[in-house]
Amino acid sequence: MIVAADTAALMEKIDVMPRPLCLVPTMGALHEGHLALIHEARRVVGTTGTVAVSIFVNPIQFDRKEDLDKYPRPLSADLAACEAAGADLVFTPESGQMYHADHSITVSENRLSSFLCGASRPGHFSGVCTVVMKLFMLFRAQSAVFGKKDFQQLAIIKRMVRDLNVPIEIIGHATIREADGLAMSSRNVRLSPEQRADAPIIRRSLTAARDLLSLGERQAESILAAARHHLEKSQMLKIDYLSLVDAETLEPVATIRRPAILATACFYDTVRLIDHVELLP
Ligand code: PAJ
Repeated sequence: MIVAADTAALMEKIDVMPRPLCLVPTMGALHEGHLALIHEARRVVGTTGTVAVSIFVNPIQFDRKEDLDKYPRPLSADLAACEAAGADLVFTPESGQMYHADHSITVSENRLSSFLCGASRPGHFSGVCTVVMKLFMLFRAQSAVFGKKDFQQLAIIKRMVRDLNVPIEIIGHATIREADGLAMSSRNVRLSPEQRADAPIIRRSLTAARDLLSLGERQAESILAAARHHLEKSQMLKIDYLSLVDAETLEPVATIRRPAILATACFYDTVRLIDHVELLP
């Protein structure tokens, strides 16, 4: 496995890496969710292609300084995990490597990012689009894998690729969960034992509300009320948002007639966790 710690080292290597190349962009603190994406990348490129992983805690996508400062950065464990998962190339730049002090170009998406996480995290998706576009250019990848856990991120990246004619295939991968249903996240390690024990209520609330759909309920208001009622049983979490949106446009819906998404972001103190379920009428 080749490790490139800066853009110059990456540029030196990237031309000689066998193609096709599939990229898995991450911010590190790798867990089984990330590793599933790496395995998917291997499936996509086959034994002779290149699986590339980037590990970069992208400062411009953080809206809260505390979240950036506290983001876990276990680099040597991450490199070992990449190696064990079969990655061929790992890119681990420092922030100064990725952004010139006077950088002045960003990529922003102006519709899908006005809802859900975009509404409560101003500038976040512009930061994501900008770094992901830079990574696509640096690697000249034929494909890239993203988790459906961050379904708004996935939708926005697909939109960016469509609208800017970026020559890359975007592959979505199912959410990997802990045994108790909690979606795996690099932020889970920041939960106290009590918060960690409480956190599966997020998934349970969403699936309980989804169950109403199979009983014939189509009104978003009732489904949202059920999910909110369930979430509010927790004494520990604070709801950032709870929304029912169209699966394609991400706009809030009143009556479920097309595939929709019930999505939430919740805080345990300063730790923000997201999850969602699909609602298929
Ligand atoms: P990060 O949160 O590290 O996630 C990297 C990739 O792993 C994303 O595509 C995310 O959707 C996926 N992922 C995270 N948890 C997952 C889980 N439980 N199951 C399946 N996939 C999961 O998302 C980012 O980093 C950044 O915004 C990034 C795209 C790297 C840009 O900086």
